[in-house]
Amino acid sequence: MGSLISILDLSVEELDGLINVANDIIDNPKKYSEVCHGKKLATLFFEPSTRTRLSFEAAMYELGGNVIGFSSAGDSSASKGESVADTAKVISCYADIIAMRHPKEGAPLVAAMNASIPVINAGDGGHNHPTQTLADLLTIQREKGRLNDLTIGLCGDLKFGRTVHSLIEAMARYTGIKFVLISPDELKLPSYVKNDCLKEHGIEYIQTTDLEAVMPELDILYMTRVQRERFFNEEDYLRLKDSYILTPEKLKNAKPDLSIMHPLPRVNEISVAIDNDPRAAYFKQVLNGKYMRMALICKLLEVTV
Ligand code: NCD
Repeated sequence: MGSLISILDLSVEELDGLINVANDIIDNPKKYSEVCHGKKLATLFFEPSTRTRLSFEAAMYELGGNVIGFSSAGDSSASKGESVADTAKVISCYADIIAMRHPKEGAPLVAAMNASIPVINAGDGGHNHPTQTLADLLTIQREKGRLNDLTIGLCGDLKFGRTVHSLIEAMARYTGIKFVLISPDELKLPSYVKNDCLKEHGIEYIQTTDLEAVMPELDILYMTRVQRERFFNEEDYLRLKDSYILTPEKLKNAKPDLSIMHPLPRVNEISVAIDNDPRAAYFKQVLNGKYMRMALICKLLEVTV
């Protein structure tokens, strides 16, 4: 495997392998602190990011490697009209591995087809975000102790939320998974994810607009932000943006061992009053993301530990 464009590029065995390496990094960070010595990661971010870009950079530094890159399209030759394919060829001359975020669906795939080094999709438009899913999987494994037999509620913008699409594709391959899809009618899961993933694999799911009604069933509640930048008109965004706001009151009927997740950034979807609830896992997700990106970089660069 050269690049990571979709979470489906990794088999379940490979996902489990990455989780094991990430757990080993957490327990033995020194063992990994020089394994990428002399290697360079290029972070090519054509769209804003805090967590993902800095998480990749921190991951590479903690492996003893170096980082080059840019954090907005305006800072790159894209602003002069360079194609993604040419940028990928050029960066292949400078770096050993690329992490790319782009507003256009498929751009990291085009980069991977033209680069001579591994490319990691760090989020492409409203499509996929496989490394957030790696963070999510490690979080679920550490919080729940398993990746099987879980009822997972996904709430908010299921249409444009790329983290949701990748997480469903990943979790649909484990056993005993049931999805509860909670969104306004306008922001339902795209039919391609429903048909190619849920229906194709016979995965149990329900769709609802009512978060509180399904709360008692959930083992995991994955909240998401309404993706303002993907809307065609601001009025629709303003009407839908506060569709779901999780408050302590709404958790009254939740399981005592529920895990509350969110890829962040949070806008309004989770009240800060929940941050100290032991069920809140969203800041742990951030840290887990760094460890999984470390494990992924080691795998793609084929470094030996
Ligand atoms: C997510 C993204 O970029 O899709 N952020 C992240 O990488 N953690 C979620 C979001 O922006 O809402």
